[in-house]
Amino acid sequence: MSSAAAAMMGAGKVVCVTGASGYIASWIVKLLLARGYTVRATVRDTADPKKTLHLSVLDGAKDRLHFFKASLLEEGSFDAAVDGCETVFHTASPFYHNVKDPKAELLDPAVKGTLNVLGSCKKASIKKVVVTSSIAAVAYNGKPRTPEVIVDETWFSDPHICEKNQVLYHRSAINNYFFTQLYVDILLWQFFSCLAHMFNGKLS
Ligand SMILES: NC(=O)c1ccc[n+]([C@@H]2O[C@H](COP(=O)([O-])OP(=O)(O)OC[C@H]3O[C@@H](n4cnc5c(N)ncnc54)[C@H](OP(=O)(O)O)[C@@H]3O)[C@@H](O)[C@H]2O)c1
Repeated sequence: MSSAAAAMMGAGKVVCVTGASGYIASWIVKLLLARGYTVRATVRDTADPKKTLHLSVLDGAKDRLHFFKASLLEEGSFDAAVDGCETVFHTASPFYHNVKDPKAELLDPAVKGTLNVLGSCKKASIKKVVVTSSIAAVAYNGKPRTPEVIVDETWFSDPHICEKNQVLYHRSAINNYFFTQLYVDILLWQFFSCLAHMFNGKLS
């Protein structure tokens, strides 16, 4: 595809990126703008230049980047940002290693927040939702990870193996993150299985 064609592929299309100030999201916003998309970027504080300035100066941002204030634990917070979008890229998630209360600081915002965003997407009949996962959600299942082994979508970290190996969410900061990612992934499968069931398997 020529660069001119790539720049046109998103023309007239509106997409949303949650947690847009973050590391991965900032790259997604940059690439979407470069391809001509109109981007709705959610941040917790739209008035904080530390969260928005690096995005506002991107090529295309002046005309096609719009900030929305949204917080993971506020129900319905993402409704306005996702309404009318073709695709939602959900990257907003706590990504800290130094936590005192893992449930309040990591698990709740990640798990309840993802459900909250998915709820807004369902209300707005969004066709495509992309959620960032992590190697943390698949790496700990007790299977060997030798060079000939293929790690694919059937892999999940196993909470019992995590427990046995003391990879519990309260044991150490880094492991909080592993557990959080695992729960978010299990939740996603449950959410979409439920929807597929409701629509008699017609969900693509
Ligand atoms: N970076 C990696 O190498 C990597 C690898 C694998 C997976 N991932 C996953 O990819 C996702 C994004 O990672 P990242 O590295 O881009 O993280 P990041 O730079 O820390 O960005 C996380 C974003 O989430 C937002 N956020 C956190 N808590 C929030 C809340 N309660 N309400 C609304 N927004 C909230 C932050 O907003 P504020 O700016 O307002 O704080 C920030 O914009 C995470 O799920 C992470 O687990 C990352």
